[in-house]
Amino acid sequence: MPLKYQEKQFFEWGKQYGDVIYLKLFRTPTIVLNSLQAATDVLTKRSAKHSDRPRMVLLAELMNQACSLPAMPYGERFRKHRRWMHEAVGTKERLDAYRSIQQREVRNLLKNLLSSPERFIQHCHLYVAAIMLEIAYGKRVNSLDNQLVAVADRAISGINEAGTPGAMIVDFFPSLKSVPTWLPGAGFKARALTVGKYVQAWKDTGYDIVKAAMDRGDPMPCATSTLLEDVGAAPTPEEAEDIKGLACSVYGAGIETTRGALIVFMLAMTRNPDVLRKAQEEIDSVVGHDRLPDFSDRGSLPYLDAMLEELYRWNPPLPLAIPHRSMAEDEYCGYTIPEGCLVMPNIWAITRDTVAYPDPEEFRPERFLHNAGKGGTDTDNIPRPSSYVFGFGRRICPGQALADPTLWLAMAQTIAAFDIRRPLDAEGNEVMPPAAFKSGFTSEPEHFECRIVPRSERFAKIIAQTVF
Ligand code: HEM
Repeated sequence: MPLKYQEKQFFEWGKQYGDVIYLKLFRTPTIVLNSLQAATDVLTKRSAKHSDRPRMVLLAELMNQACSLPAMPYGERFRKHRRWMHEAVGTKERLDAYRSIQQREVRNLLKNLLSSPERFIQHCHLYVAAIMLEIAYGKRVNSLDNQLVAVADRAISGINEAGTPGAMIVDFFPSLKSVPTWLPGAGFKARALTVGKYVQAWKDTGYDIVKAAMDRGDPMPCATSTLLEDVGAAPTPEEAEDIKGLACSVYGAGIETTRGALIVFMLAMTRNPDVLRKAQEEIDSVVGHDRLPDFSDRGSLPYLDAMLEELYRWNPPLPLAIPHRSMAEDEYCGYTIPEGCLVMPNIWAITRDTVAYPDPEEFRPERFLHNAGKGGTDTDNIPRPSSYVFGFGRRICPGQALADPTLWLAMAQTIAAFDIRRPLDAEGNEVMPPAAFKSGFTSEPEHFECRIVPRSERFAKIIAQTVF
């Protein structure tokens, strides 16, 4: 099995062996589900049996992430964190309340794109970070140098760098966790323990800021303060750890995925000027030229919605989701799924189903236009990627209802205000950036360049004059 782009190898094996593949990762029985049907049958319809997570020694035990939801085993604590996540980012009331944060931060995004378009990746990062951190800790963040962003991002990049496939062998041989760090080959452990300290610093920094503000009688409305109010003035160490974990779930699980999708959007627009033009025409005809599109326009912008679906499909942010673990033996299509089996939905393979999505490498929002009269085909039977790129069953992403409007608003306003053009070579010719994506647990484009220029003087003026 290759160490990179495993989803592609599983997809190839799927062509050879079928939608349900069994393999052994070292000694661990593993099932890969290569079709939407199989993933839904096993992980959603039988979620009572397949909703645990494997023991994540590297991430949870060495890197201090046991308190955050993605790594948590199924059980009481898991149910409590799911409930907390839902209350924090899943209710209509909370999501409506976050709109003003998203609207403010998207203006900051546009302003930054106007003043330093070449730094678009950092600006996308700040946009998502600011929203997630304000929800988690109630603090407005307006620069990547902010203490909260810096401490959280140091931990997250540490997790990415130290979480190489080689280091993850410890997940399959947990006894390796006890090897002394000075032994040859045990460098992974030393690195993981350092990252664990960064993670602890991240957990403590945000929590301490909120707690101190509450102790001063100056509470900041946010997910952390809501939970602190519930437990009272003196939380036990366990309660404190749980509350810190919730904020980590919001930022940790939300930043890479949502930021990655936004950067993929920039790449898709750079590569597909026709798609960008169609979306601009739709927005111009509905919204006009005097203002930028807002949430209230969403129902009138079907092409933009189709584009978001295509964005999820073209490069799903978590190509193999997060592995589930079976809690009891099961049978599917005549095969036995043993208890303790790893079950991986191959989301990437589902997006490459050529029956549902002909020419899957093409970025073509028309696939999802449900009205042939609007230039697409009648695609009512095509699965919408938003129904599966967020995972399955009891482990389905609890942040979908937050990620979706966050992405939509950034896309809508960027498209309305800017052209996104291909970079130029030394002779002034446009250069097409490749559709190349990094391998890893989360997927985002390899480095690429684009030229982001305001569509009109009028929009440039409106954006430049925005005051925060
Ligand atoms: C485009 C953006 C996003 C995508 C594509 C995405 C996708 C996913 C996927 C595939 C999973 C694994 C589901 C499974 O195991 O079946 C997941 C889990 C999770 N996501 Fe997201 N996610 C996104 C944004 C967010 C945001 C914004 C948040 C938080 C505010 C979030 C919080 C979580 C958490 C806490 C889990 C773990 C759930 C559990 O283990 O029970 N995600 N996400």
